[in-house]
Amino acid sequence: MPDSPTPSRCLVVIFGASGDLTKRKLIPALYRLWDTGEAPRDLAIVGVSRTKYTDAAYREELYDFDPKGYDEAKWAEFAKRIHYHAGDATKPDDWPGIKTRMCELAKEHNTGDNVLFYLSVSPQFFEPIIQNIGSADIVTEGRKYCSIEPNASWQRIVVEKPFGSDPASAAHLNRVLAGVFDEDAIYRIDHYLGKELVQNMLVLRFANTIFEPLWNRDYIDHIQITASETVAVEGRGSYYDSPAGGAMRDMVQSHLLQVLSVVAMEPPVSMDAADIRTEKIKVFKALRVPQADDVPHIAVRGQYSAGTVKGSSVIAYRDNEGVADDSQTDTYAAMRFQVDTWRWGGVPFFLRSGKAMAEKKTEVVIYFKPTPHCLFLDRTQEMKPNQIVINIQPDEGIRLRFEGKVPGSGLKMKEVVMDFDYLEQWQTDPPDGYATLLNEAMKGDQTLFKHRDEIESAWDAVQPVLDYWKKHPQSDLPNYAAGTWGPPASDLMMQKDGRYWRNG
Ligand code: BG6
Repeated sequence: MPDSPTPSRCLVVIFGASGDLTKRKLIPALYRLWDTGEAPRDLAIVGVSRTKYTDAAYREELYDFDPKGYDEAKWAEFAKRIHYHAGDATKPDDWPGIKTRMCELAKEHNTGDNVLFYLSVSPQFFEPIIQNIGSADIVTEGRKYCSIEPNASWQRIVVEKPFGSDPASAAHLNRVLAGVFDEDAIYRIDHYLGKELVQNMLVLRFANTIFEPLWNRDYIDHIQITASETVAVEGRGSYYDSPAGGAMRDMVQSHLLQVLSVVAMEPPVSMDAADIRTEKIKVFKALRVPQADDVPHIAVRGQYSAGTVKGSSVIAYRDNEGVADDSQTDTYAAMRFQVDTWRWGGVPFFLRSGKAMAEKKTEVVIYFKPTPHCLFLDRTQEMKPNQIVINIQPDEGIRLRFEGKVPGSGLKMKEVVMDFDYLEQWQTDPPDGYATLLNEAMKGDQTLFKHRDEIESAWDAVQPVLDYWKKHPQSDLPNYAAGTWGPPASDLMMQKDGRYWRNG
């Protein structure tokens, strides 16, 4: 993100150290930052969890998990900074031990009193851990807490999703956090904001003159934001089928509305975190909160039955362990949003996400309006609307689709594509979102993290749909086969408006 200071030395304290996220994402991300020299040299990491490990056993366990593979010699060097503390951070009695260990490690690795807490635990543990951090008198913001040496220290907290499961629980969690940390020390993470192509949208829009003049209701017909996944629910059945689960909560309320806010925001005064967040918050505040009567027209719930995804058979959602036989959980959700501002008046934003779908893709498609007068209708079957397709993943890139002339005599047209392919252009894969976000949190840059107002307004916009769905069980579930593009009702919602999802 914008020029910010390099990260200052710090101790990263990960709660949920033996969990999947820590092993698969956080440690690989910290290793890469260390390897590239982006992480501070005085860095230490301590994992806190109930499982008993020695430092050595913990390091060994972590080593096996990086999908890209660690370099053995570099890992050996990096791993000296990784430690483990067996303890239950939800129990006040375990905190004297946790704090003592933190201070010992701070001395050993010269991290001063700077601490980055990372809550990578189930959401029911957020509140007790935050409160115990508060009671342990570690959040001193400027004062030293370990009596290491006089310094201006910082203590920050990164909070994973899910951030609440409705407006009330999200507001409550925000109050709990505010009781211990200042807003500028709270990093509510959304790994979609760490994705290169999401950040690239800021550059596309605000570093070029050719797109922004068209980026409004005068030229844009509608916008689609899709995150289709081929993975099914697999081992996560009991979490996914809980009152906090489902595609609307898991993906739309969080990741996809964040993407929408970047697409829809006004140009910020500067690229500083505060200015960017100010504009994003305005978008969230302008999201129309639907009435219950609107819900059947603007939202679609889906659930997958057995099917085949990319040649492999997938069992029906309801046949997963931990999932109720008559589950009403949405493994697919689509919703039409409205951003009530001058720029976007009348332009619908269609968001959808689902598990066990035909293809893995996350993209934003800007559909432009037709030309005011069509000169070519007699020469072609159909004129496709101009589109800007922002491929967030995979095949990262930005593609402009427009009509071109087919070679030869006569004026035959065909859709052609101007293509910015990330890999081809930069000869490298985009960095992992978690590395970007951890780096920003260590630097103290909140641009890519969510403000409390964004989260609360996002919940307000989807809660009427969740309430309606709860009140009105749907008898046709499951309503799409694994390996397809979701329920027909979702296509119908679009077709009523004369629009179509961009599949494939
Ligand atoms: C997580 C959701 O936040 O994002 C998962 O909880 C989902 O259900 C994942 O699979 C998708 O992330 P990505 O980066 O693969 O699109």
